[in-house]
Amino acid sequence: MNMRDIIAKKRYSEELTDEEIAFFIDGVTKGEIPDYQTSALLMAIVLNGMNDREMTTLTLEMANSGKTNDLSYIGSKAVDKHSTGGVGDKCTPIILPLVASFGIKTVKLSGRGLGFTGGTVDKFESIEGFNINVDSADFEKYVKENGMVISGQTPDLAPADKILYSLRDVTSTVDSIPLIASSIMSKKIAGGADAIVLDVTCGEGAFMKDLSQARELSNAMIKIGKLAGREVVCVITSMDEPLGRNVGNVLEMMEVFEVLQGKGEEDLIEVVTTLAAHMVKVSDAKENSMSVDEIKKLCRERLNDGTALEYYDKLLIGQGGLIHSTGSPIYKDYPTEVMRLTAPSDGYISAIKADMIGNASVELGAGRLKKTDAIDYGAGICIYKKIGDKVSKGDAICTLYKGKGSNIDEDRLEKAAELAFDAFVFTEDKPEVPSVVLDVCC
Ligand code: URA
Repeated sequence: MNMRDIIAKKRYSEELTDEEIAFFIDGVTKGEIPDYQTSALLMAIVLNGMNDREMTTLTLEMANSGKTNDLSYIGSKAVDKHSTGGVGDKCTPIILPLVASFGIKTVKLSGRGLGFTGGTVDKFESIEGFNINVDSADFEKYVKENGMVISGQTPDLAPADKILYSLRDVTSTVDSIPLIASSIMSKKIAGGADAIVLDVTCGEGAFMKDLSQARELSNAMIKIGKLAGREVVCVITSMDEPLGRNVGNVLEMMEVFEVLQGKGEEDLIEVVTTLAAHMVKVSDAKENSMSVDEIKKLCRERLNDGTALEYYDKLLIGQGGLIHSTGSPIYKDYPTEVMRLTAPSDGYISAIKADMIGNASVELGAGRLKKTDAIDYGAGICIYKKIGDKVSKGDAICTLYKGKGSNIDEDRLEKAAELAFDAFVFTEDKPEVPSVVLDVCC
């Protein structure tokens, strides 16, 4: 077997055998295949696709390329969640304590932000003292003590995905359904999940630009789950505007705290409660006999009555996070206003391009342009007007923030302001406000 023949087969749209896929992933993991051959095969997969069997084999080979977690110590069904990536997506810090209030124990492995989408690890790390680099030996201790644990992805989990993902990032081979589906599912399977609820984002600020692509990706991950013996539910959510109101690490964690106090934006609450309700439904919590709508209602109640907040405190304190006497987490930095943008004319907001808001936030220092860049935790954007809102000329539409220690220069600030302003699409007539949850596939 050799890579040249495997590449040629996929180039001519032939199916790869399980042995050929195993040979490829084994070679990638051991560093035996040069990047040019790996990249050529990735591009052939982007162009000619893979069938369900090929995708599943690719997923399982990647999942087994490193260590796999055994979560049997949890003593109940292990339920995990994952998002395909969004802007303003602060669902995980709300969902973990919310589902913990149903007795669901979660071991959540998350990533850092790269590009215009933020990362959950950076958001938790913006809390003073919070330990996000949990040793695999400590997972069990934290889950037993706090009912949940959140950690950065350990390097030994699905290492083949890490190698492929970094090549995909620089060879324009990210947005391919078989490659995204196998990348996500390999990490979830290696992480030890029995059931997985996936937030498949859809729109300009997401990999999947329209509903039909999002459904195709969802169905691919559901099929992989079936063949791999994992239950998968995909909730397709809109990324036609950033989720909620704030983008940036501390700003997003402040919004998380608001939602846990029974406040916050309706789109964020709708996505959070929908995902949490599906997690409860596939879990072995006693509430799983209720309908998803009934569980959603319960979730809203637990956000409003402080139950979820109690579990959030448990999570933060359990992993070393510092909390002020007011009950608010203590952050590593605090946002200071640098510029407020206003509406140029009377009208309505019809879209807020999430990728441009994400990129503006990165320019302000909230994200990384390179993996090694330092983060300004206090930087970001607060959005005041959402899709469907009426604006009058001169109304504030958003504010740009930087951290207290920021040394951002005028050029970057100007670029951030330009991107943020251009992200807002105005119309004269009131647009239809689309629902944020577009579909559920299982
Ligand atoms: N998220 C992942 O983990 N992998 C992809 O390929 C895309 C999004």
